Amino acid sequence: MSQLSKVVCLASLFCLVTLTARAAEMPQLVKKDGRFALMVDGQPYLILGAQINNSSAWPAVLPEVWPTVEAMHANTVEAPVYWEQIEPTRGTFDFSVVDDLVHQARSHNFHLVLLWFGTWKNGQMHYAPQWVKGDPQHYPRMINPHGEPIDVLSANSPANLEADKTAFAALMRHLREIDGTDHTVLMMQVENESGAIGTVRDFSPMAEKQFAEQVPAAFVAALHRQPGTWKEVFGADADETFQAYYQSKYVNEVAAAGKAEFSLPMYINVWLSYPPAELPERRISVPGLAYPSGGAVQKMIEVWKVNAPAIDMIGPDIYNDDPGFYLGIIDTYGRPDNPVWIPETGSGDSFAKFFFSALGKGAVGFSPFGIDATKWTYSGDAYPKGHAENYALIGPMDAEVARLEFAGKLKTAVEEEGAVRQEIDFGAWQATVSFGFPQHDGRMPPGTKEHDGRALVAQLGPNEFLVTGIEASVAFHRPGKLPGQRMDIVHADEGRYENGSWKFLRIWNGDQTDRGLNFKHEGSVIHIYLDTF
Ligand code: DGJ
Repeated sequence: MSQLSKVVCLASLFCLVTLTARAAEMPQLVKKDGRFALMVDGQPYLILGAQINNSSAWPAVLPEVWPTVEAMHANTVEAPVYWEQIEPTRGTFDFSVVDDLVHQARSHNFHLVLLWFGTWKNGQMHYAPQWVKGDPQHYPRMINPHGEPIDVLSANSPANLEADKTAFAALMRHLREIDGTDHTVLMMQVENESGAIGTVRDFSPMAEKQFAEQVPAAFVAALHRQPGTWKEVFGADADETFQAYYQSKYVNEVAAAGKAEFSLPMYINVWLSYPPAELPERRISVPGLAYPSGGAVQKMIEVWKVNAPAIDMIGPDIYNDDPGFYLGIIDTYGRPDNPVWIPETGSGDSFAKFFFSALGKGAVGFSPFGIDATKWTYSGDAYPKGHAENYALIGPMDAEVARLEFAGKLKTAVEEEGAVRQEIDFGAWQATVSFGFPQHDGRMPPGTKEHDGRALVAQLGPNEFLVTGIEASVAFHRPGKLPGQRMDIVHADEGRYENGSWKFLRIWNGDQTDRGLNFKHEGSVIHIYLDTF
């Protein structure tokens, strides 16, 4: 064997070993240089998600799921696991529905995020099995301030926690058995929009006793507060904070029990506190009425962060397309200790541009809700067009985009009413993004009818950029100079990514570059090489 063949052989052996080791790695959330990535088989992964409707994860219904999520160009499907189905009688588990879901997802080449519909679903207990619902003596419900039981299980009950924990741990054990090497399932949502609709906290005798006690010392210390009773420490927010404390502790224990069996990343989703639409003087969002009390709403994030370390991420469900609200929520939840992850959002076209906003904030994923053809939201061949256009554009280069986001090289510009021209700053190079067409000389860009133009620019090298967008024109320039001044476009290559490699199609020049790189709806992707003189 020649020296060269020995080197090649050793190198490929090394590659094989490395690839096998990577494939064996569990999906995990990592943080580096202040940025997050969901690592799947050793590489940053971008979740182009689609959440199916609540009653669609059944074998008989799944055939109505795949065509819609495929038409949307999603790479990951979020689907529920129902406690009432997997544990119909206490301690007896039936995973046939989960097995079918995992097998069907695999055969359709989708990853899965599984949603544990356990103790809580939208601030209620509707997915608890009948043996729990029918035995309130053993599995107590919350008691409202009027002394009445409501259809929410108490977070202060050890029996409730034990029952949920046991079921979730059994689910995770089963997933390890069926998916320990394939990693079809990427992560778990623990409960669904946990919290209480119907009361701000539990007023049962047991909870009342706890409420009168001192706030646990470790919790007060973690929040940098002075010791005292719940009322003394938290004043007007005492009831809600008390609920959030016991609930986050409960969910944390469920997640930890699951991780002990199979350590997938775990997150919670949040029914947000929205500003009510009534008269301004009534704009007070009441916990337990306007949203489930105890969830990780905007002002309770800190409580959950200090009290639920087994929860890797908190993801807001965003159903309001007001740009101020949407972008504010991305900023509120995208924190040094929490990645941007949007587990649910509206499927309408008005929500599509926020996918680009999330990418610009380093999101690990994004997932519109209600994506299947069960006639609840869509039927037949219908699918969410705006989101599908995004995913069709980004899907072929999702690995590249995830890598660039994690490296801090990717920026976006998203149109807003009155903000039809925006700057993206890469230091030595800047890009002016102008939204809407036609763009006449001597006039401001017209913007788009729905104010939803979007562009993505990522730096590949000192003078090299990846550029794409929808209803946007992108023109590079040096700081303080106009496009074309003391700079050249060396070449602007149109191409596409196929299995991670860039395939060149043609060079753009002349009208295709003289007024910026124009992206309408044709899904073009450009590698542009610049120079200065
Ligand atoms: C949010 C919940 O998390 C989903 O399960 C579903 O009920 C949607 N709301 C419906 O809009």
